[in-house]
Amino acid sequence: MNKHLLSAADLSAADITRVLDTAAHLATVTDRAIKKLPTLRGRTVCNLFFEDSTRTRISFELAAKRLSADVINFSAKGSSVSKGESLKDTAITLEAMGVDAIVIRHGASGAPWRLAEWVDAVVVNAGDGTHEHPTQALLDLYTMRQRFPSFDGLRVAIVGDVLHSRVARSNIQALALMGARVTVVGPPPLIPRGIEALGCEVSYSIDTIRDADVVYVLRMQRERMLEGANYVPSLREYTARWGVTPERLRPGQKVMHPGPMNRGVEIDAAVADAADALIERQVRSGLVVRMAVLYDLLTHGPVEVKVAEIEEVA
Ligand code: NCD
Repeated sequence: MNKHLLSAADLSAADITRVLDTAAHLATVTDRAIKKLPTLRGRTVCNLFFEDSTRTRISFELAAKRLSADVINFSAKGSSVSKGESLKDTAITLEAMGVDAIVIRHGASGAPWRLAEWVDAVVVNAGDGTHEHPTQALLDLYTMRQRFPSFDGLRVAIVGDVLHSRVARSNIQALALMGARVTVVGPPPLIPRGIEALGCEVSYSIDTIRDADVVYVLRMQRERMLEGANYVPSLREYTARWGVTPERLRPGQKVMHPGPMNRGVEIDAAVADAADALIERQVRSGLVVRMAVLYDLLTHGPVEVKVAEIEEVA
């Protein structure tokens, strides 16, 4: 793995496999009564969130704490950012405090790359604009690997608002690298032109989701839709034509969603709550995969050594 985790494109197939394997070992720790490992004792992780988040922020915080790191939670609201302080000055402040890793979520695509130029700390992209969200892709692959023997030939349909989705961009690249066959499905205004270059096919027919092993539903990201731009005639129309309902699925198809869900918009409540939905499992995966990412970036040495370390504590 590179020094930072900014994009799914930073990862090789070997990196992905190593992170998923490490996460699987770490999962055995989270089942114990005492869930903490001493690995990152004395290290400081800062969660720098300029955009709202529930799952990502909480799981990064818990992941760092479970590895015994000191954690600083910074959100733009209530900080000097609301007084107009720039990302660069915020970065300089964090650097002066001697943080070892900065987990950043920012509304501007590319912000984590800028940050990485300004600090010595390791930078982890926790979502930048509509661009990338690599740890979401890793936790999604971890979740899929628990259900399917191999990524090779696995058919994944990513359906909905692909245009505004950093989750889709990171997932397409990581899944394609691992040999999965990814198809993005949605109305033409919500499918970015040229998305095939990331390693997927495009379908403008909701019926194609029936061919998939995994149907990955994206949130309608209304907050990113520019006022006045009519991507879809109305939400009601979107739901009627593109909503994932039990009728549009085959029995046994696995359903995923990164959260937060708009129940009754992109996903029917009956689908979200069905036994084939892996949505809660994705949240569980988030913790161990983010532990594995921090572990990988902040400690060095071959995976065998690291796994031995984990087992020693056990
Ligand atoms: C996603 C995000 O913020 O990019 N959520 C998440 O991290 N779990 C997807 C979304 O907001 O729709």
